[in-house]
Amino acid sequence: MEESDRYTIDDVAFIGRTVREYERMFDLDLGEWTGKSVLDCPGGACAFVPVANGRGIDAVGADVLYDTPPERLREKCEADVDAAIAGFDGVEDQFVWSFYDDVADVRDHWTAAYRTFVPDYAEWFDSDRYVHAELPDLPFADDSFSLVLSAHLMFLYSDDLSHEFHAESLRELARVADEEVRIYPLARFDGQEYPRLDELREMLADEGYATERRSVSFEFQRGADEMLRIEV
Ligand SMILES: C[S@@+](CC[C@H](N)C(=O)[O-])C[C@H]1O[C@@H](n2cnc3c(N)ncnc32)[C@H](O)[C@@H]1O
Repeated sequence: MEESDRYTIDDVAFIGRTVREYERMFDLDLGEWTGKSVLDCPGGACAFVPVANGRGIDAVGADVLYDTPPERLREKCEADVDAAIAGFDGVEDQFVWSFYDDVADVRDHWTAAYRTFVPDYAEWFDSDRYVHAELPDLPFADDSFSLVLSAHLMFLYSDDLSHEFHAESLRELARVADEEVRIYPLARFDGQEYPRLDELREMLADEGYATERRSVSFEFQRGADEMLRIEV
C-alpha cells in the first residue's frame, strides 16, 4: 500500500472517546469498578473521567497535554478532531463500519466525548483529577489505581515511539496498577499488529506479570479487535 493511501496523522492527536467506545474496546463494565480508583492514561479528550466520577469511581486522567489551559486545549481538540476526520477521506474502506455508521457518526462520538471532557477539565484543571504526566514516567506511587486503562498511544503510534518507550511505559503502567492494566489497540495505523508484542509479554512475564490477549467487541481499524490485559 502506498504511504498516501493509508490513514496517517502528523502528531499524536488530542482527541477522545465516549464511555460507550471505552466499554467496548476495553471490555469494561463500569459497575465492577464502583468505589475503586481507575487511571486513564493517556486521557486525551475522553468522557471517561467525568462520567466514571459521576458513577462513583475515583477516576483520574493523565496526559502530556494536561498542563494546557482549558480554552487552549478545547481549541486544540477541535482542530485535531477536524484533522483526524479529514484523514478518513478516500480511505473509508480500510475501516470496519460496525460500531460507527459512517464518518459523520465517528465525528459525532468524538465530539460528544470532548464536549463532556472540556467543562470537566475546566472545572478540575487545578486538581488531582487531571494530572500532567509524560509516559514512560508517571507521578504516582506504586499500586495507586485498581485499574489502569491506556488507549490509542502505545502500539498505534509505534512508527514514532521506540520499542524502549513501549517497554518502559508498560512497566510503568503496571507499577501504578494494583489489579490490572488494559491496553487497546495492539495494532498500528496500518492495522498490522505491533511486531514485538510477544517480546514485551515475555519481558512482563519475567518481571512477574501475567498477560492475556483478549478479544473485544470493538473493531474500527481492521484487525484491531483485541486488548492486552496485564494482571498485577
Ligand atoms: C489519540 S489520543 C488517545 C486518547 C484516549 N485514550 C482515546 O483513546 O481516545 C492520544 C493522547 O496521548 C497523549 N500523549 C502523547 N504522548 C504522550 C506521553 N508520552 N505521555 C502521556 N500522554 C501522551 C496525547 O496528548 C493525546 O491526548
